[in-house]
Amino acid sequence: MAPFCSNMTVDKFLNQGTQLWYDTSQPAHSRLHQAHVFPLLEAGPVPRSLRPLVHSLRAIKSPAEVSLMQTAGRITAQAFRRTMALSQGDVDESVLFAKFDFENRIHGANFLAYPPVVAGGNRANTLHYINNNQIIKDGEMVLLDGGSEYFGYVSDITRTWPVNGRFSPAQAELYEAVLEVQRSCLSLCSPGVSLDHIYSTMLALLGRQLKRLGILKAGTSDADVLKAARRYCPHHVGHYLGMDVHDTPELSRSQPLQPGMVITIEPGLYICEDNDQAPEHFRGLGVRIEDDVVIREKGEPLVLSCSAPKTIADVEKACGMG
Ligand code: GLY
Ligand code: MN
Ligand code: MN
Repeated sequence: MAPFCSNMTVDKFLNQGTQLWYDTSQPAHSRLHQAHVFPLLEAGPVPRSLRPLVHSLRAIKSPAEVSLMQTAGRITAQAFRRTMALSQGDVDESVLFAKFDFENRIHGANFLAYPPVVAGGNRANTLHYINNNQIIKDGEMVLLDGGSEYFGYVSDITRTWPVNGRFSPAQAELYEAVLEVQRSCLSLCSPGVSLDHIYSTMLALLGRQLKRLGILKAGTSDADVLKAARRYCPHHVGHYLGMDVHDTPELSRSQPLQPGMVITIEPGLYICEDNDQAPEHFRGLGVRIEDDVVIREKGEPLVLSCSAPKTIADVEKACGMG
C-alpha cells in the first residue's frame, strides 16, 4: 500500500477503486490510528482486514513447518516420559512442572509454549489450573497439559497418570473410557471432516461411556446424555495448532479439514469430588488425553505426539523408569 503522504495522494488512491487492506479492530498503534488513520478511513472505502487471509494461509503447513512441529512434538513427548519417571507419591506439582520445563529446554525447545497445567487429584477438574504448587498425594493422578515452542512452532500435549505409577481400578476404568473416545476421534482426522463434526462425535461417544461407567443411568434419554457429556467435558475436542497454541482463530471449526492442517484431539472426562451424582469411586478424578495431529491426503493422520506414553501399560512402564 502506498504511504499516506498528503490528502491529495489519499484522494487519488481512494478514487482508483483500490481495495484498502487495514485492520481496524486491532491497530498496531492506537494513538496514530486515532489521530491520523481513522479520519482518512471515514472518507474512503471500508477497509478489509488481511487477518482471515493470513490465517487461511497459516492453517496449511508446508513440509518444513510440519518438520518443525514434529521436532516440537518429539521434544515434549520425551519430556513427558522423563517427568513420568520422576513422579512418585507424594510429589509437589512444582517439582513435576520444573522437571517438564527443564526436559523441554535441555533438549532444544526455546521455551514452553504456554503456562502448563500440572494438576494433581481433584485440581484436574479445574480446566485452567496453573498454580502448580500443591502436593499430589500417593494414590492420586496428575494431569499435565504442556507444550514447547521450537523455532516458532508449538506442541500442545496432555497426559494423565497416577503419580505412584499404578492406576487404581477406578482410575484405569475412567482412563480407558477417555482413551477409547480419543482413539475414535483420531481415526476421524481426515480431509473433508470438520473439527465441529469430530466434536459432535466425541460428545456422543463420551455419553455412551458415561452410561457404561454407571455415571449416567441406563435409561437416560439421548438428549440428556448429550447434555451430560457437555457437562462432564466442558471444552471442544480440539483446535488448530501452529505458530500459536490456539492457532488461526479466524478459521471456523466448521470448515472441512485439509491436508497439511494441524489440529489437537483432546477429549476428557472431569468428575469433581463434590459431584454426588457420580459413583463415589470416580469422584475427584479428571482425565484428558491430548495429541497433535497432521491431516494427510490419504491414510492415517500423522500424530506428532505419538512418542508420549498413552496406553495404561506404556504409562505404567514410563513411571517405573525412575
Ligand atoms: N493447552 C491448551 C489447550 O489444550 O487448549
Ligand atoms: Mn489443546
Ligand atoms: Mn493442551
